[in-house]
Formats: sequence, structure tokens, C-alpha cells
Amino acid sequence: MKISILTLFPEMFDGFINTSIIKRAIENKKVEIELINFREYTNDPHGKVDDTPYGGGAGMVLSCQPIFDCVEKIKTKDSKVILLTPSGKQYKQKMAYDLSNEKHLIIICGHYEGFDDRIESLADYLISIGDYVLTGGEVPSMVLADSIIRLIPGVINERSHIEDSFNENYLLDYPTYTKPDDFRGMKVPEVLLSGNHQKINEWRYNESVKRTKERRPDLLD
Ligand SMILES: C[S@@+](CC[C@H](N)C(=O)[O-])C[C@H]1O[C@@H](n2cnc3c(N)ncnc32)[C@H](O)[C@@H]1O
Repeated sequence: MKISILTLFPEMFDGFINTSIIKRAIENKKVEIELINFREYTNDPHGKVDDTPYGGGAGMVLSCQPIFDCVEKIKTKDSKVILLTPSGKQYKQKMAYDLSNEKHLIIICGHYEGFDDRIESLADYLISIGDYVLTGGEVPSMVLADSIIRLIPGVINERSHIEDSFNENYLLDYPTYTKPDDFRGMKVPEVLLSGNHQKINEWRYNESVKRTKERRPDLLD
């Protein structure tokens, strides 16, 4: 899979692509991440990529020309274009699964006051990572890329993500523990020390259901 990220601030991704599982996925050629500064596509002699909003109001708006030219240059028949915007569809694990089957994702990061609305016509998906407003699409694009890359076969142990929260059964993950079995009087549940795998699986399932009922009853709907 290839992920092309259109951003005015490619340096923000240094830590993301050079650390831990994402770094390893890139080295093992499971994913290619291409960072494109769309300022390089502007026709403006001073390198401008934004302008004041028609009708007045605060902030600067990203202009059509650099982003249209950039997307049209890199897009192929295998590409899906994602525009990050707080007014998009709320991102969920199911979308991460669906997107992990694509060959090429183009993710457009907004900044400042947002985009010229006509840029939406380039997008296959409008995605929001939640009901809050960030300064730019860089952090949301890392959220998407990270959640998608870990689902690509061979990136992490498949069992890890099958057992994660928000999987097909919509249950939250069960509680996990590691050594020591008694930390300051807080004891690991006996069943996990029993070696009885059927009992352990039953306990884990029941704990998942209990935790989901307590913390996220909306998921059970
Ligand atoms: C300051 S925000 C613009 C907010 C815009 N005026 C609004 O209220 O919808 C700048 C850029 O950050 C990104 N962004 C901010 N919050 C986001 C969120 N919750 N989900 C996805 N992208 C977001 C988008 O790319 C957006 O164009």
C-alpha cells in the first residue's frame, strides 16, 4: 500500500515515520509513505497557497489550484482521496479495515481556516477524527495512517488486532495484566493464573461485555 499525504508541514511527520511499528512497516515494504508539500504546486510567484475568504471573516482559506494540480498529478485509477475535515464522517475502526484494503490513499491535510469548498469535489471520503477542531490535518492524517498500517497483513501479529477493541463484535478489549501477580495488594484475577484456557476465554469474553456495558453502552446498540 502507498499513502500520499499532502501537507504544508511535512517535518511534523519525522517522528511518526521513524519510530517503532510504522518505521518497521516502511522498512519491510508493507507500506510506502509519501509526504508532499503542496506549496510546491502553487502557481503563485510568492508561494502563496491560501487567501482571504469571500464574504469576509476570520482566517485564511486554502486555495483550489495547488491542491487540484497536486492531486491530479499523483492520482491513478487505484487511488482513493481522503479530505480531512471536522465536518466529515466520523472515523471508526470499520473504516480503518475498509481503507486497509486500498492500494493507494491520498490524504489531504487542511490548515488555517480550512479549504475552499470546491476542493471537496476531489474527495472520495470526507473524514473527521472526532468532534473537536485541531489546527491542521497533520495529526488526523497520522491517526488514519497509523490505524490503517497496523491492519496490513504482516505488520503486527494478526491476533493482536483481531482481539482489539471495536472489532467485529463491537466489544471493548478485556482487562490485561502482566507480572507481578500482586502489586501493592492489587491481585491479578485467579483464573488468569489457572492455565485453563477455556475458562480464561470465557472470563475474557464476560469482562469485555461487562466493560462495554459500563463504559460504552452505545456500542451494544
Ligand atoms: C482549524 S481546522 C478548520 C476548521 C474549520 N473552520 C471548521 O470549523 O470545520 C484546519 C484543518 O484541520 C483539519 N482538522 C481539524 N480538526 C479536524 C478533525 N476533527 N478531523 C479531521 N480534520 C481536522 C482539517 O483538515 C481542517 O481543514
